[in-house]
Amino acid sequence: IMGLTSDPSFQKLDQWSKSNAGTLNMRHMFESDKDRFSKFSITLKTEDGDILLDYSKNLINEEVMKMLVDLAKSRGVEAGRERMFTGEKINFTEGRAVLHVALRNRSNTPIMVGGKDVMPEVNKVLEKMKGFCHKVRSGEWKGYTGKSITDVVNIGIGGSDLGPLMVTEALKPYSKGGPRVWFVSNIDGTHIAKTLAELNAETTLFIIASKTFTTQETITNAESAKEWFLSTAKDKSAVAKHFVALSTNAPKVKDFGIDTENMFEFWDWVGGRYSLWSAIGLSIALHIGFENFEKLLSGAHWMDNHFRTAPLERNAPVILSLLGIWYINFFHMETHALLPYDQYMHRFAAYFQQGDMESNGKYVTKEGTRVNYHTGPIVWGEPGTNGQHAFYQLIHQGTHFDQWGVELGKQLAKKIEAELKDAAEVTSHDSSTNGLINFIKKNFA
Ligand code: F6P
Repeated sequence: IMGLTSDPSFQKLDQWSKSNAGTLNMRHMFESDKDRFSKFSITLKTEDGDILLDYSKNLINEEVMKMLVDLAKSRGVEAGRERMFTGEKINFTEGRAVLHVALRNRSNTPIMVGGKDVMPEVNKVLEKMKGFCHKVRSGEWKGYTGKSITDVVNIGIGGSDLGPLMVTEALKPYSKGGPRVWFVSNIDGTHIAKTLAELNAETTLFIIASKTFTTQETITNAESAKEWFLSTAKDKSAVAKHFVALSTNAPKVKDFGIDTENMFEFWDWVGGRYSLWSAIGLSIALHIGFENFEKLLSGAHWMDNHFRTAPLERNAPVILSLLGIWYINFFHMETHALLPYDQYMHRFAAYFQQGDMESNGKYVTKEGTRVNYHTGPIVWGEPGTNGQHAFYQLIHQGTHFDQWGVELGKQLAKKIEAELKDAAEVTSHDSSTNGLINFIKKNFA
């Protein structure tokens, strides 16, 4: 496949936008075409009601949409989509399949990765989550003093935090009868300390959510939680009743002191930023109940089927991404989604932003405020740690790198962490970094 900018479909759009973009005046377009709304909206019919996607308030016309769909065809989107659904290793930088769709494949048709159907494993973990949720929610699961669980603390960051945080918030009305949920992500110890101050060790369950089980923010917070717990329980064998892990890395889970019996597994083909559909969703299932969690998976499965089968010009996810392609490449601006969402969805922006940013790249304006191509300023939201996480990625990874860049940043942070352990003067970095590290060593020892 030729490079994007050499593609004739791309060049056609480029030329068109250079000579005609100025004619795309929103008010005029609405005035001159009474059918604009029906032309540029689609209604998806589901058993539970209609979903309306209105994209008419974008700087587009029929000619532009046609050229964008032609571009998608010429870039091989249809074949690529099929390669994703059939478990091919489309994540070519890491040599992995990309199979969030398998996690919510409620029709259970086999999905093969390297000659092996992944569905039995997916279903096995879902069964384990189901059993665990029923035990915790019914009160059958007891803490070390025989009391039931009232509070669940999810310790994670990025996709291992924002996804479950957003969904538990959005589905609060369905949480009756479930434990309260808390989310700790910030490496600043104040976040965990403030949370623990509200809790009773006897009735609290900690979920350590980390795909790699090496992310420093998460492991540091998990160690603090364990220390806090043991200072009350004073018995290491009590940990098994109060700590579970969600991860792909069984040896690291074991090293941390969590029995792999209490580990809910997922796989390398689940990208971390979109992992709420995997075992990472355990806090969701505990909060709203497993049956509701299954409904969430069914809803996503419905959308996956739509994405797989609908023609590109009537395909909601494809249309939305084509609009992104249009603005980024030909207008050099971000797209802004105006979502008429209610208060329950207030965590959506932060969730969406992280996934988008890690997939599509980051960007800083002259004022240094924008860190995302699509969704505008980083949400330095409560308590800001995910913005911080992303900001560090930008610094060490640049605007377009991939997961390897993220991993490199994690390695660099580890090197510095080791250097902070003793009093020796550090000279291995540039003079500013050395100066900062040495200042910290001297003043905060
Ligand atoms: O930010 C990079 C990233 O790898 C995200 O994709 C992921 O959600 C987050 O870090 C946390 O990683 P982990 O689940 O391995 O702790």
